[in-house]
Amino acid sequence: MACKRIGILTGGGDCPGLNAVLRAVVKPALYDHKLEVVGFIDGYKGLTEGNYKMLHQHDVSGILFQGGTILGTSNTADPYHVPVMQRGKPVKKDMSRHALNVYRKLKLDALICVGGDGTMSIAYKLHRDGMNIVGVPKTIDNDLVGTDKTFGADTAIAFAAEAIDRLHSTAEAHHRVIVVEVMGRYAGWISLFAGFAGGADVILIPEIPFIMDNIIEVFQRRKAMGKRSSIVCVAEGAKPKGGSMVVQKTVKDSPDPIRLGGVGMKLADALESRIQQECRVVVLGHLQRGGGPIPSDRILASQYGYEALHAVLNGKFGCMIGLKGNTIVHVPLDKIAGKTRNVPKNHPLIIMAREMGIGFGN
Ligand code: F6P
Repeated sequence: MACKRIGILTGGGDCPGLNAVLRAVVKPALYDHKLEVVGFIDGYKGLTEGNYKMLHQHDVSGILFQGGTILGTSNTADPYHVPVMQRGKPVKKDMSRHALNVYRKLKLDALICVGGDGTMSIAYKLHRDGMNIVGVPKTIDNDLVGTDKTFGADTAIAFAAEAIDRLHSTAEAHHRVIVVEVMGRYAGWISLFAGFAGGADVILIPEIPFIMDNIIEVFQRRKAMGKRSSIVCVAEGAKPKGGSMVVQKTVKDSPDPIRLGGVGMKLADALESRIQQECRVVVLGHLQRGGGPIPSDRILASQYGYEALHAVLNGKFGCMIGLKGNTIVHVPLDKIAGKTRNVPKNHPLIIMAREMGIGFGN
């Protein structure tokens, strides 16, 4: 089949590097392969509603280093569960036929879906239902199975590590404990890597439930060494042993409605009541997602975009582009949908950190 026209969308929460993917798909598609590229607005919402724009050279020029996505995105749009009012009541309707009609009407030969696990789960269903789909893995959380790395994660980690760097001096000046809450959902990749790189004294991740006494023990050990301050890097999904994650809010209509957040404050309050030291909390929140990608993410995102385009050209559909070691791989979408890649408890970085005296609260 000679490929003439392809579609692309960015779905789920944004992340640095989305524009780099778009650029790496559109530029060679237009020039080397003489394809037309349709960009859907706001992810699957645009696909379902037929809201799109043709992408030209000027659209993707000068965007390599820009954060966000020129197409817009949505982490509530799912063509299989569209919220509508029926007899005065809000219900979810399967509108995937609309999405398929848009795809067919536009005579698309393939659709590239850039997103995280939610986006890949929907991509899998669309492929099953007849679309030629290739996925590209994005998320600051780095929690997608099938790839060692999602683009955007390194940028978030670099930002969070720099934030921790800056907190050392103020913590030290006031002899305080500063708790830094980072994102990551149900996986601790950001906390582990940013915490280690930023020199945190305690790193808490969802995969290792924490015990308060063990955290306090680290502070006491540090005090005995003459260290008057400590930094705790806590993942938003971290939880005490026997306890549960702290939910900040529930987002109606989202494929994953739970929004985590607040564990940092809870932890700081609980710590302060037990130690003779002031505690402060810094929640990095969406700052970790904002801004442009660092160079390694610009490169990774571009490689993924380029490989996705070539998968399309080679008729390789129903897969997501991934990275295993240094090798680009194509992973079947059904192996990814609905799964989370967690930090193994014996990750080499954890083993090394423990030997260096960093606490994990267990
Ligand atoms: O998946 C990326 C992520 O930033 C998570 O780390 C975080 O839990 C969630 O998205 C926040 O989502 P929202 O943008 O809806 O607040």
